[in-house]
Amino acid sequence: MEQKEAWEPKIIGFLCKWCSYAAADLAGTSRKKYPSNIGIIKLPCSGRVDPLFIIRALRLGFDGVLISGCYPGECHYQTGNYRARRRFAITKKLLEYMGVDPRRLQASWVSASEGEKFAHVVTQMTAQLKEIGPNRLFADDK
Ligand code: FES
Repeated sequence: MEQKEAWEPKIIGFLCKWCSYAAADLAGTSRKKYPSNIGIIKLPCSGRVDPLFIIRALRLGFDGVLISGCYPGECHYQTGNYRARRRFAITKKLLEYMGVDPRRLQASWVSASEGEKFAHVVTQMTAQLKEIGPNRLFADDK
């Protein structure tokens, strides 16, 4: 009898190259264990994340979206992460309005030296998405 493969959530991470992307790299090089459920897109700043990127990722079938950037006050472009934070809050509300569990969108400040924190964030998000289940809202659009 054929065994069904266990479902695994797919996460897309939009990471600032100055901090969180470097943290992801550090997590890898220092062999921190975290789920391989995340695919990473490197951006110049978390402020570059457009809400449309998030909606598009969910439409493409990703189960969760992570935005990660420099700590407040440490953005290389001064206010990019403040902009990201405002957009994040608004996009979460929009997702809720659309019937998407807002936990599918998460954000975390992770500095370049925090490989362990990055691994922890991905591990926690993966576990939470497993509880929520697959993203089916846009399944009929395909
Ligand atoms: Fe990292 Fe702006 S440069 S969040």
